Amino acid sequence: MIISVTMNAAIDRTVAVPNFRQGHRHRSVESRTVPGGKGINVARTLGLLGRPVVATGLAGGSNGGWILRRLREETLLTDFIRISDESRINLAVVDPTTGEQTEINERGPGVSVDELDQLLKRLDYLAAGARLCVLAGSLPPGVDMDFYATLIGIMRTHRIPTLLDSEGEPMSAGMRAGPTMVTPNKLEAEELVGHEFDTGEDLYSALTELTDMGPSQAAITLPQGCVALVGEGSEQRMLEVTIEPLEPISTVGSGDAFAAGYMAALYDGMSQEMCLSYGVACGAEATQHLGAGRLDRRRAESLLDSVTVRRVEAPTGV
Ligand SMILES: Nc1ncnc2c1ncn2[C@@H]1O[C@H](COP(=O)(O)OP(=O)(O)OP(=O)(O)O)[C@@H](O)[C@H]1O
Ligand SMILES: [Mg+2]
Repeated sequence: MIISVTMNAAIDRTVAVPNFRQGHRHRSVESRTVPGGKGINVARTLGLLGRPVVATGLAGGSNGGWILRRLREETLLTDFIRISDESRINLAVVDPTTGEQTEINERGPGVSVDELDQLLKRLDYLAAGARLCVLAGSLPPGVDMDFYATLIGIMRTHRIPTLLDSEGEPMSAGMRAGPTMVTPNKLEAEELVGHEFDTGEDLYSALTELTDMGPSQAAITLPQGCVALVGEGSEQRMLEVTIEPLEPISTVGSGDAFAAGYMAALYDGMSQEMCLSYGVACGAEATQHLGAGRLDRRRAESLLDSVTVRRVEAPTGV
């Protein structure tokens, strides 16, 4: 079983508004509403990839009830803690004439100490029967910045490898607790290490800077694949994993599909080379679908043939 934790679950509502202009009244031509939050997206992809997954975290109020009902309709196994304040609603306005997307994301519910405590106990219980754990997405306001660090600590007591994918302080505080893998995109990696990457060499140096912050391994995702520092001790190696970029239908959630693919292959006991390749193939296939976390397993697996893995020497001075 793979545990996927969503601390800040959401109702993701996307409306299509042709010729969208700020300050004007519009009529939407189409809309869709789905459960979201990065952990939920990862769980959805893992389910589509046929791996056993349980989605857990916090689901608040009637919005949380709606999220859980919809996840069950998707036949995802869920074990969320119900909290009293409302889970957030995220609104995305897509203009089909320009392809531009405007997002308005709520911050999320207030969470009581007792509710967080219930979640910690639930995770400790789930961990007893799990093999891997994904922690992805933002934390609701008021939750301690080092909450992911606490969760990583719980997983460590059960010897469960963790993949952390968040942003800002919850991500850097979580990294200090030593997750097994982190998967920021390029922009997030630049923010984490505190400088921009101008050259390919900067990208490789950044991998070492990321692992120096705590995680055992790191991958930085790019539209053409990823670069990664994997393995431990004498087995440590730097890899470049590439795929010919596809014309995307939507890149929203491709990073979540990457994380799911990586974990799916890790669950099967594959090499890091294979885990990263499977992640890249899943990320690429997910760009061919509108909904976050959606992909076609067979097409993702056929894309594996066009993924190349190259070993790179660590830049000097690193
Ligand atoms: N245009 C593309 N063609 C092929 N593959 C892509 C493309 N864009 C992204 N990918 C794949 O998806 C993976 C993740 O991409 P990206 O760096 O965009 O994630 P992200 O910004 O974290 O996305 P999100 O957080 O919205 O889920 C990459 O490793 C890559 O394999
Ligand atoms: Mg991402």
